[in-house]
Amino acid sequence: MKKNRITTTNKAAETFKTDLLVYLAVEVKDKMPLCPKAVQTQVKKAWELKDFRGKTGDQLLFYPPAKAPAKRVLVLGLGPVNREEDRAAALEALREAGGRLAKACEKARAKDLVISLPAPKHLAPGIAEYPVAAEMLTEGIILGDYRFVKYKETTKKKTDYPGLAAVKLVCPEGLKPVREGVRRGRNAAFAACASRDMANEPGNGWTSADFAAYAKVLAKETGLTYRCIEKKEMETLGMGGILAVNQGSSVPPRMVILEYRPEKKTETILLVGKGLTFDSGGISIKPSAGMEDMKYDMCGGAAVLSAMAAVAEEKPAVGVVAIVPATDNMSGSNAVHPGDIIRHFNGVTSEVINTDAEGRLILGDAMAFGIKTYTPTCVIDAATLTGAVIIGLGHHYTGLVSNNDALVRQLEAAGSTSGEPVWRLPLDKNFKKQIESKVADIKNTGGRPGGTITAAAYLSNFVDNTPWAHLDIAGTAWDFTEKTYIPKGPSGTATRTFINLIRNWETDTVKAVKKSKGR
Ligand code: BES
Ligand code: MN
Ligand code: ZN
Repeated sequence: MKKNRITTTNKAAETFKTDLLVYLAVEVKDKMPLCPKAVQTQVKKAWELKDFRGKTGDQLLFYPPAKAPAKRVLVLGLGPVNREEDRAAALEALREAGGRLAKACEKARAKDLVISLPAPKHLAPGIAEYPVAAEMLTEGIILGDYRFVKYKETTKKKTDYPGLAAVKLVCPEGLKPVREGVRRGRNAAFAACASRDMANEPGNGWTSADFAAYAKVLAKETGLTYRCIEKKEMETLGMGGILAVNQGSSVPPRMVILEYRPEKKTETILLVGKGLTFDSGGISIKPSAGMEDMKYDMCGGAAVLSAMAAVAEEKPAVGVVAIVPATDNMSGSNAVHPGDIIRHFNGVTSEVINTDAEGRLILGDAMAFGIKTYTPTCVIDAATLTGAVIIGLGHHYTGLVSNNDALVRQLEAAGSTSGEPVWRLPLDKNFKKQIESKVADIKNTGGRPGGTITAAAYLSNFVDNTPWAHLDIAGTAWDFTEKTYIPKGPSGTATRTFINLIRNWETDTVKAVKKSKGR
């Protein structure tokens, strides 16, 4: 769907010619569902017949008389969303409804969709506003309408559903704030879909050069500042981590940087994303079963670059810098060996025990460089860093490790309002001890116990006292918990969490983060 094809109107919903006209209904215990007047007669009948109760996902589809302009009318159940006390859960119910609508459109082969927004009096207090409903439905529809067909050529059929062409949201009042809601939902969802597109590209379709090219085009279109550190400069700067990981590769490494500066001089948030375009494990080679999934090892990098597209559009008051260290991890006669000792950008030396623990090597250089260059208020990294996080948290939570309680609270809030929950794990000297090396300052693995945390312990060597949070998205970047708006394959996770974190970033947040204790 094109960005400008999501529109708003205050004309009556039933006046539009459309493939699918949608009304939403709220489940009420032992009573008729709450719904707009326009469909009350039908809903009452269906409810009396016990065909429709407004439960989550319940659908009542009918075909209006020939003189009505809509081809189909759908009433979609939202569940008891008027009684939902947990705001994040209420937002999620609307987002999931959006995802369901995208699926319903595919089933009906509807090219366009008109939705009558639910009345605030039918919604829980925390979300009882037209703009909030508009934002969540927009987000859910766009995310749910996502498909990746770029490489479908000879198997592509003319009859394949191409996705939605247009969506219209109907609201009786206050169109301006509703448009703002649509804009937020649209920016967040388009950014997450851009992340999915990058991730869906195979290792031979998305290399470090593609990361650089994407960022360069984005900067040109939006006014962001683009910079790319090439291999030569990395050598001069002493970025021994990313250079070591790249040793076996035929594609040079790149450190891609996008910078957003608001007009007034302010504080900066630094985002760093692991851009490992294919992880074979290197000399410590991975088993072949499932190795193809390691094209997704760049999802952290995708998330930070895509989030910058929304930042450029929304122009927040806080500055944001995104850095993506990008390379693949290959074996071969030039590849880094187990036992090799490398020297990172900040002077820390490291013994490479396992060449498959490569993410931390490229992130270390990127974080130390970013902190030295941009002196940010805080740094947040996102990385598909450890298989261990999947053992601990499954595919349902992103692992979070941080040295700053206030920053943790910000990320927990941004994550849950985005439907991307995070769960904090501890980090103390015992984990740091696991990565002490006999011959260098540190080593790159700490054994199996606490693998997600020892990986974070490694990263902690590159942040000094800067408030820092690490998101291990190995369990959520793909195969994420099944939801109506999350497809199989890459989810785009962390993109919307970053966008919402930045939207909520206020002067008070800066103060709290600066005051908050490190651990
Ligand atoms: N990219 C992988 C982590 C990963 C594994 C992500 C499975 C998603 C699914 C990372 O580079 C890696 O290989 N980590 C190793 C670290 C170990 C060698 C200390 C791991 O988790 O096994
Ligand atoms: Mn690896
Ligand atoms: Zn990896």
